[in-house]
Amino acid sequence: MQITGHTRVFGILADPIAQVKTPQMLNALMAERGFDGVLVPFWVAPDGLAAFIDGMRACRSLGGLIVTVPHKTAVLALGDEVTAVARHIGAANVIRREADGRLVATMYDGAGFLGGMREAGIEPGGRAVYLAGAGGAANAIAFSLAEAGVSQLTIANRTRAKAEDLRERLGRVYPDVPVMIGSPDASGHDIVVNATSLGLKLADPLPLDAASLSPGMIVAEIIMDPEITPLLATAREKGCRIHRGWPMLERQRELMAEFLGIGP
Ligand SMILES: NC(=O)c1ccc[n+]([C@@H]2O[C@H](COP(=O)([O-])OP(=O)(O)OC[C@H]3O[C@@H](n4cnc5c(N)ncnc54)[C@H](OP(=O)(O)O)[C@@H]3O)[C@@H](O)[C@H]2O)c1
Repeated sequence: MQITGHTRVFGILADPIAQVKTPQMLNALMAERGFDGVLVPFWVAPDGLAAFIDGMRACRSLGGLIVTVPHKTAVLALGDEVTAVARHIGAANVIRREADGRLVATMYDGAGFLGGMREAGIEPGGRAVYLAGAGGAANAIAFSLAEAGVSQLTIANRTRAKAEDLRERLGRVYPDVPVMIGSPDASGHDIVVNATSLGLKLADPLPLDAASLSPGMIVAEIIMDPEITPLLATAREKGCRIHRGWPMLERQRELMAEFLGIGP
């Protein structure tokens, strides 16, 4: 497809930027849909973020921005409108530019994870879920799991204070969802989710005690590469059903395209 004066421009905002896969993913989607748009990398360091975002208000060709590390939290204060879900989580990963230049920020990490699970036929509502991690992705997933009505959510994180902070913020929005602070022992849960970065390297330790996994559990990853992390390999050996990291991103791609008006 040729870029012309009509082409809508989108960007991925990150620092560093070389590792991002969003340009390949969204440009392929636009081509598939015959949508006249292009997504390009914008390598912006934190000290240049406010000026960059402000300048985007004036860019009438701009459809929006995908936002990733390390800007997901900082962009909240720089947009004109923030959806409730992004406000609760304290981070956004997509910004839409409206025709009048206003920038609307929202967050799809959690909805992407939940949508990916549901598309695989896994419903977390009514089930006891163990969540390893309390970082950016874990925060988003925790809010989506609470929204889905899990019967219990156990958060286990290396830095306990971050898990406690997440529990407190969840409690303000979803007071009826029981949230516990967990240990590496995941036993007694129906669904186990790894939302830490442990597993990115094959030499990483498991994010939880392998002995606490049992057949019948569903073990989900959000790490995409390697596709089968040591946790998923262990879970499979123990007879658990496994759910890989890719569906979260694939579902997010659809949600972001819808939010940004990248239609057929
Ligand atoms: N599939 C998808 O669409 C998708 C989307 C977003 C992110 N991700 C993946 O999710 C992972 C986490 O991303 P994030 O943005 O949430 O990162 P983050 O905010 O930096 O959080 C990292 C989490 O991992 C924990 N952790 C890191 N190193 C650890 C170690 N050595 N021992 C124990 N815990 C450790 C951290 O614990 P502390 O709090 O104690 O530091 C924290 O809970 C990344 O691998 C990323 O690629 C996937």
